[in-house]
Amino acid sequence: MTYPTYHNLIGGEWLPAASGKTILNVNPADHDDIVGAFPSSDAEDVNAAVAAAKKAFATWRLVPAPKRAEILLRVGILLQQRKEQYARDMTREMGKVLAETRGDVQEAIDEAFYVAGEGRRLFGQTTPSELQNKFAMSIRMPVGVVGLITPWNFPMAIPSWKLFPALVSGNTCVIKPATDTPISVYNLVQTLVDAGLPPGVVNIVSGSGSGAGNALVEHPDVRAISFTGSSEVGSHVAQRAAATFKPVSLEMGGKNAQIVLDDANLELALDGALWGSFGTTGQRCTATSRILLQKGIAAKFTERFVQRAEVLKVGNGLDESIEVGPQVNAGQIETSNKYVEIALAEGAKLLLGGGPLTDGDYAKGTFFAPTIFSGVTPAMRIAREEVFGPVISLLEFDTFEQAIEIANSIDYGLSTALYTKDVNRAFAAIRDLEAGITYINAPTIGAEVHLPFGGVKHTGNGHREGNGAIDFFTTWKAVYVDYSDKLQRAQIDNAE
Ligand code: UN1
Repeated sequence: MTYPTYHNLIGGEWLPAASGKTILNVNPADHDDIVGAFPSSDAEDVNAAVAAAKKAFATWRLVPAPKRAEILLRVGILLQQRKEQYARDMTREMGKVLAETRGDVQEAIDEAFYVAGEGRRLFGQTTPSELQNKFAMSIRMPVGVVGLITPWNFPMAIPSWKLFPALVSGNTCVIKPATDTPISVYNLVQTLVDAGLPPGVVNIVSGSGSGAGNALVEHPDVRAISFTGSSEVGSHVAQRAAATFKPVSLEMGGKNAQIVLDDANLELALDGALWGSFGTTGQRCTATSRILLQKGIAAKFTERFVQRAEVLKVGNGLDESIEVGPQVNAGQIETSNKYVEIALAEGAKLLLGGGPLTDGDYAKGTFFAPTIFSGVTPAMRIAREEVFGPVISLLEFDTFEQAIEIANSIDYGLSTALYTKDVNRAFAAIRDLEAGITYINAPTIGAEVHLPFGGVKHTGNGHREGNGAIDFFTTWKAVYVDYSDKLQRAQIDNAE
């Protein structure tokens, strides 16, 4: 089959990897469908991209922020026009169903409009000086060249969470897309170019983590790294970046709990559980992967949950009737398989699924059956470790306090959900759940772009995306203007 060849974007020019090597981008629902060949970049390409970004920074940082923001406004409008095409490209490259890839492009549109407004804010502070005739203020400055390493599960939304705040703040960027999903980053960056972004302000280097990612993290001219991916890779990124004292924003794993109390609206809790667990084939860092059921409703919920999961339509996400797409690649299928084996060995009870789907058309892709385990206890690995697939654990508890304790008893802390009609317990849960995000009567997925996004414990390192991103992509400068026309010594001339 013939397929297009894509290039890196460096200093405004589309260039193949210096080595000439490429990586194929294949549709996970149909391995005969090749989306394209993308550069397999290494340090040489990264060096060229960083040099281009460094050159562009000299002028981009001087463009007034409201003008930088106007480009983002145009990007939002162009993305609206291109939404359907980009959603289809995304479903082809990573499998999630069209309704969800449209949502992914929409999230980039939302981010564009939100951040475009920030161009006229980027507020600093003024504060009184301790001396007369002296003015004091703090202003936000861009960081410089920033390196962005983005994941395959939200191939356009998450790059937009990083690119747009970095750009409005006056930084220039080198982005390395996930090897499974380069086309969505190409589409996003092409839109930036079409909206008038000057050459070199955003550069793309496609390739693997070992080939391009490490070189970006270690490059002395890269001033900050923003990474979304697994906790394992995030830990390597942070350690490598430490050698050059780069700030790193890490957004990593989750093992998100949905708690259902006896008084909950059961059908609503089931709707939420189904969407949170099997949406994006369980491949979200916010995905529901533990459902904690109070004893009074546990049997009924379990029965209904299995009934509803059993009839989910799994298949090629380009077919509008499909509800669950493939897993992104064979490696993810292996991980799901591994955790099914672990759960069985630990004594969990398999209620549904439990393996890849391989009959008929499924043989062309990497599909995994929606899988549910009951009888899971908090100490089991299946209750503690991230699977990143459609494999769900059901746990039972007696009291509300126990539910909170179980929910908190893991290393991760991204998203949590509580279903109840009891307002007192809802507020206690908001206070006590150790997580960056808590939903009441809504599933663990579905964060909006203008709130802080991120987690506690091993999920992150304290930074936030969403409305926290500008804090990461700017650095504070303290400014003092003395208009007394004489030497005034702080701490000395004004001391009692
Ligand atoms: C992710 O899973 O990496 O809140 C991001 C959500 C989406 C973003 C998920 N808006 O589920």
